[in-house]
Amino acid sequence: MNIPKSIYFPLSIAIVAILASISFKIFDRLTLEELSSPIISRIIHSNIQRGHHRHHRDDKKQSICDNFSPNFPTIDPTTTSILCVDHNGCCNFTAVQAAVDSVGNFSATRTLIWINSGIYFEKVIIPKNKPNITFQGQGYTSTAIVYNDNANSSRGTFYSGSVQVFSTNFIAKNISFMNVAPIPGPGAVGAQAVAIRIGGDQAAFWGCGFFGAQDTLHDDRGRHYFKECYIQGSIDFVFGNGKSLYENCQLISMASPGSRSINGAVTAHGRGSKEEDSGFAFVNCNVGGSGRIWLGRAWRPFSTVVFANTFMTDIISPDGWSDLNDPSRDQTIFYGEYNCSGAGSNMSQRAPYVQKLNDTQALPFLSSSFIDADQWLQSFSN
Ligand SMILES: *[C@@H]1O[C@H](CO)[C@@H](O)[C@H](O)[C@H]1NC(C)=O
Ligand SMILES: *[C@@H]1O[C@H](CO)[C@@H](O)[C@H](O)[C@H]1NC(C)=O
Ligand SMILES: *[C@@H]1O[C@H](CO)[C@@H](O)[C@H](O)[C@H]1NC(C)=O
Ligand SMILES: *[C@@H]1O[C@H](CO)[C@@H](O)[C@H](O)[C@H]1NC(C)=O
Ligand SMILES: *[C@@H]1O[C@H](CO)[C@@H](O)[C@H](O)[C@H]1NC(C)=O
Ligand SMILES: *[C@@H]1O[C@H](CO)[C@@H](O)[C@H](O)[C@H]1NC(C)=O
Ligand SMILES: *[C@@H]1O[C@H](CO)[C@@H](O)[C@H](O)[C@H]1NC(C)=O
Ligand SMILES: *[C@@H]1O[C@H](CO)[C@@H](O)[C@H](O)[C@H]1NC(C)=O
Repeated sequence: MNIPKSIYFPLSIAIVAILASISFKIFDRLTLEELSSPIISRIIHSNIQRGHHRHHRDDKKQSICDNFSPNFPTIDPTTTSILCVDHNGCCNFTAVQAAVDSVGNFSATRTLIWINSGIYFEKVIIPKNKPNITFQGQGYTSTAIVYNDNANSSRGTFYSGSVQVFSTNFIAKNISFMNVAPIPGPGAVGAQAVAIRIGGDQAAFWGCGFFGAQDTLHDDRGRHYFKECYIQGSIDFVFGNGKSLYENCQLISMASPGSRSINGAVTAHGRGSKEEDSGFAFVNCNVGGSGRIWLGRAWRPFSTVVFANTFMTDIISPDGWSDLNDPSRDQTIFYGEYNCSGAGSNMSQRAPYVQKLNDTQALPFLSSSFIDADQWLQSFSN
């Protein structure tokens, strides 16, 4: 199994944060691939080169866009319209929020917002009255929306998201969502920093990246689908009360390496009662990275999470899960594992409430009917 080791991600995030605080304009042309590189000198080198180029390009502004030919997907203009975002100013908008703002209220047709490679350092909010929006990036290592709020600097964790989606039918393809607030040290207060909050029903993500530390992906509410996504974090890095299916995703912990104590968790699912219809299902995923972490913590009493056909490295604590020291939750939480592999999947020392699911029990979590996909989920190419 090819699990990327994530020890360089904290470093790259820190570098993004530092550069962002100087000037976000400096990101012209710098790809996330370069930022993720372990070789700092390469980053510095590319900055120097870019500084030169930028100067050059400022002199002849006309030439920046000469080679600009967006590879728009083919669309049916009767159901979809395209808006283009490019931070060099080569098409409709230079900022993602400006494109979102230009979409009409409650449009019955889809608006595809095509976003060129680059880092867009802005906070983006898609309000309830803008359903049916697609963000199409150029790959999760080359297009990113980045901001650096944390719980302290916003109205709390729930409002710290670099991107916040409150509308229905949101789609994102081949783009990253990042929060580059300083990585919290042990016991930090107010440092939760969400990369994206997904608060609308029927949202789908293909080939997307989610980068942060504590509380990266706020899978808040509604039915959501994630395919081939890269999700990085430390504590509770997929959290919320959504009903979501994650297929073929990489879940990469950046909790401190070498710690003997448990210092993170992949999930904190927030189902509060039997009546709520929510839960996270991870199918054919990989769990790896650094630290010593749980698969989940029982944020609320009916927390519901299943890992199936998933490879886990030895970063998973042998007990696997946490009831947050509230044994009354053991009766109501639903934590299941099915046909997983790797050193972290050994269930012999799991907490007593963890269930080794049989075929019948696992079945409802394994397919897209878990999120009623036939009612709403389109294919990647649509
Ligand atoms: C976006 O740009 C295209 C091509 O220049 C143009 O045809 C279209 O009218 C623009 N749309 C908006 C909303 O500005
Ligand atoms: C869209 O709705 C918002 C909030 O209700 C309102 O302020 C705005 O004027 C509306 N825009 C249009 C174009 O109707
Ligand atoms: C989204 O657009 C489709 C048509 O493409 C339309 O049928 C549907 O009603 C729209 N959804 C919303 C919530 O507006
Ligand atoms: C958040 O604010 C609290 C109270 O002012 C402070 O103690 C804490 O250090 C702050 N945390 C961060 C990450 O800034
Ligand atoms: C976009 O995402 C899809 C689905 O995960 C993937 O197959 C494809 O390679 C990605 N394309 C790019 C340019 O990253
Ligand atoms: C169990 O997981 C493996 C991959 O680790 C997969 O090849 C196999 O099909 C799975 N078995 C079932 C019954 O889903
Ligand atoms: C699982 O862990 C137990 C206890 O640590 C060990 O005895 C057993 O060999 C392990 N099983 C596998 C398949 O590694
Ligand atoms: C699976 O487990 C459930 C609950 O323990 C049990 O009722 C059912 O008979 C089992 N099914 C199979 C096929 O083992």
